[in-house]
Amino acid sequence: MIPNSSSDFLTLHELVKKARQKLNHDNWDYIVGGTETETTVRRNRLALDSIAFRPRVLRDVSQVDASTQFLGRKLRLPLILAPIGGLELFAPEGGGAAVKAAQQFGVSHMLSSVCEPGLDAVAQAAPDALRIFQLYTRGDADWVDAIAGQAIAAGYSAFCLTVDTAYYSRRERDLAKRHTRSGYMPKREFQARLTWSDVARLKSKFAIPLILKGIATAEDATLALEHGVDMIYVSNHGGRQLDHGRGTMEVLPEIVAALGGRVPIIIDGGFNRGSDIVKALAAGASMVGIGRMQCIGLAAGAQAGLVRLLELLEQEIHICLGLLGVNTWAELDRSYLHPAPPVSTGATLGAFPLLSLDERSFY
Ligand code: FNR
Repeated sequence: MIPNSSSDFLTLHELVKKARQKLNHDNWDYIVGGTETETTVRRNRLALDSIAFRPRVLRDVSQVDASTQFLGRKLRLPLILAPIGGLELFAPEGGGAAVKAAQQFGVSHMLSSVCEPGLDAVAQAAPDALRIFQLYTRGDADWVDAIAGQAIAAGYSAFCLTVDTAYYSRRERDLAKRHTRSGYMPKREFQARLTWSDVARLKSKFAIPLILKGIATAEDATLALEHGVDMIYVSNHGGRQLDHGRGTMEVLPEIVAALGGRVPIIIDGGFNRGSDIVKALAAGASMVGIGRMQCIGLAAGAQAGLVRLLELLEQEIHICLGLLGVNTWAELDRSYLHPAPPVSTGATLGAFPLLSLDERSFY
């Protein structure tokens, strides 16, 4: 039996509903929205919806185990709480609540450099969590190196550069309401100046594993490997940066082929259900990042809400693995997947058909 906290939330969509009730319209749109036409957001979901399962039967699946090893640690699920700026808007403790949920449940946490209460306080909130630090570049090489040093000193296990944010995109839900997040704008030009030589410098100066988040082609995954990068994070920022990108599950096969198992692959973008996570691992990813759903768990019930969200994802994953005829991730591969016509429109929260249209963000 999977251990569970006592909770009134029996389904993931109940957590979404609660979050929707608790958040004001500005914060809700900040979470669910994307860039301009929101095509990339929809393609993330459509890419997942375009994969069906090929289940195998009559195997003993009484010992399902969805745990994994990552960065030398055992995790209860192959999940990372993706870096989210401004978590303090959704739960009073902000990044502190998220990292404590990660520690309590047993998944990895990635802290955004634009999330309160900052890297030292988050480290102190959950000293035993598997913590990774993600940086937006807001200064020159010395500034970046100083922060990398701080993250290492604070016990972070890996350092992540987000590289799909050379420019901040036009998120029209926010623009139309004149809604901006304070502190988000200054010194953004440093992000536009980042190049592969910065990656080489970081690798030569620091021993900590380096992750590049926002890789969307085999070419860049190969270049990253040539520069000594330790992990590739396939992401389109949840459709919040380049509009008209591909869904990340559409991108994944060329990256898996280019890397040939040499480094672990993390992926995110629309992974809202346990079955979505199973698809990613069957297709060759090692870990899945949870973005908007993390915000929803925190908004619905702070640390406890996020732990409950992880429990429900775990239940879905266990059942999905058992029904596919496997007990462990190692038994899963692409033979369990098959192309299929999508059944949804790709709306941000379209994985929850029992929500109303407004709650699914269909407008
Ligand atoms: C993000 N994302 C993000 N990424 C990053 O590298 N640094 C950051 O500070 C943020 N901030 C942020 C805020 C909010 C509200 C969202 C929804 C997303 C992107 C995030 O890490 C991740 O790539 C996507 O959220 C994954 O897609 P899903 O799971 O939200 O569909």
